Amino acid sequence: MYYSDELIEEVRMKNDIVDVISGYVRLQKKGSSYFGLCPFHNEKSPSFSVSRQKQMYYCFGCGAGGNVFTFLMEYENLTFVEAVQMLAERAGVELPVMEYSREAKERADLKSILLEINKVAAQYFYVQLKSEQGSVGYTYLKNRGLSDDTIRGFGLGYSNKYSNDLYQYMKSKGYSEEQIRQAGLISTDEKNGVYDKFWNRVMFPIMDVNSRVIGFGGRVMGDAKPKYLNSPETPVFDKSRNLYGLNRARASKKPYFLLCEGYMDVIALHQAGFTNAVASLGTALTPGHASLIKRYVQEVYLTYDSDEAGTRAALRGIPILKAAGISAKVIRMDPYKDPDEFIQNLGAEEFEKRIADARNGFMFSLEILQREYDMDSPEGKTAFFRETARRLTGFEDELERNNYIEAVAKAYRVSPESLQKLVTKTAISDGLAKPVERPKSSVEKMVKKEDGHLTSQKVLLTWMIEDRRLFRTISQYIHPEDFTEELYKTVAELLYKQYAEGELNPAKILNHFTEEEMHREAASLFHTRIRELSTKQEREQALEETILRVKKNSIDVQMRQLDPADIAGLQRLMEEKRKLTDLKKLHISLD
Ligand code: CTP
Ligand code: MN
Repeated sequence: MYYSDELIEEVRMKNDIVDVISGYVRLQKKGSSYFGLCPFHNEKSPSFSVSRQKQMYYCFGCGAGGNVFTFLMEYENLTFVEAVQMLAERAGVELPVMEYSREAKERADLKSILLEINKVAAQYFYVQLKSEQGSVGYTYLKNRGLSDDTIRGFGLGYSNKYSNDLYQYMKSKGYSEEQIRQAGLISTDEKNGVYDKFWNRVMFPIMDVNSRVIGFGGRVMGDAKPKYLNSPETPVFDKSRNLYGLNRARASKKPYFLLCEGYMDVIALHQAGFTNAVASLGTALTPGHASLIKRYVQEVYLTYDSDEAGTRAALRGIPILKAAGISAKVIRMDPYKDPDEFIQNLGAEEFEKRIADARNGFMFSLEILQREYDMDSPEGKTAFFRETARRLTGFEDELERNNYIEAVAKAYRVSPESLQKLVTKTAISDGLAKPVERPKSSVEKMVKKEDGHLTSQKVLLTWMIEDRRLFRTISQYIHPEDFTEELYKTVAELLYKQYAEGELNPAKILNHFTEEEMHREAASLFHTRIRELSTKQEREQALEETILRVKKNSIDVQMRQLDPADIAGLQRLMEEKRKLTDLKKLHISLD
């Protein structure tokens, strides 16, 4: 870790969690906590809570939780160090400048290294594009109508025509073969040894929402196949949670995004002044993309290719956006294939008109649906309206549903009353009254899978953090060594130390875990879901059973690890086991 524990704690204390999160989520005070809509999953009623007293947040819906650093790591997709830096700046805490010596590089976590490698590679590709050997790439981009400003703004580059050019360069910068491989920039085979993934292509650096390069797309300059190559997914490159152009589009003032299919479409649109364009990364739109978009806008205009594949992609995208609470409109691109070609041929003004003429996503999907029915026959028409009614039942909000019923009735020239009746009938026969299924949280799933002993240990930790009295009871029987998982043991040690020093501060414990995975897991220990126990007797019994279970498991584990020659050790464990039987007779009281 680069910064001292004291400094990290100072940064944390100077950034009140309620203030920081309020910058991202609208919070309302309820009792001693603040509540809002969880930014980490889609929900309609608030289950995301922030405690000023504990300086922690927690979502009862999806189990996300942690301190102010965790929040920024999750929300802004930052590493721990970056979260510390961002909050230090916010609070005016000066941090010592970090040096990147070879040792520092080795110590730094994998993600930071991969981000650095991607950045250095992007700079290299850019320099190559502007050099003589890159003139083929530069000319290609120019011929596609891109200005120097645009090329610089998007950091476009060129990968040279040698098979291990980038590899040699990165090695000379001090990165190991393994690191460069993990960044997805090289491959190896028996015949050729190590070779670059990208060569002789124009390069599109893919950036995350904070403008950090996380991967690349590379395009051939002719008709060779494959047209585009993309970086593989790496620890910093998750295709289903990033969008091309989002780092720029997020700053656009428009209340909607233009969602297109290709890198070139995004670039052409931005160059023409539509700075709210984004694209997925050569994959279909996912719920992850939708919730990412939802952080910035409530509305999306789909500018997918006008061909069959583009239409199908739009049809698949609309319900995904709707599920995230985003309304979708569809822009007509014909007679051109995609936004890039459209702009080249008709210009920005005509595109502006297409935006104004965009069709509502639901109405668009009906137009496509209609093609499957023989609308000239009464049977075909009836079947079409049945399916339409079924889709209309998907609008849970009554006002919204009625507005759509009216719109459909008008567009397809039927009476709104009879359509309304059909919708009601369909809703009843489809069983609309069935309870809404709650989304299963990933934490819940994890807890179910993991072994029961770990769950018991987690429960104890959560209890001890929640309640001082429970700590006193539990710590009589359970010591940090009784936690069999290294991470739990460390958390327990820190927690016991805080109690010994009379200072319970769970948010501070999290500072100790600087590697993201560890950090997240540690945060989850503080929020284990515990079944509501209503009576005191139930609570006492649960406490007793959990303590016994953890203690017994701890002794079993020690027994297994014991050196057979260690007679004294064996005796000690036998004695502990005997005490366990005493504990069973003992009644733990919560008075
Ligand atoms: N794509 C890909 N791999 C391919 C082809 C396409 O990853 N072999 C992805 C790229 O992200 C590309 C997008 O799908 O930007 C759309 O593909 P396409 O419409 O074929 O390309 P365009 O973006 O129109 O690119 P260009 O205008 O340069 O032909
Ligand atoms: Mn194109």
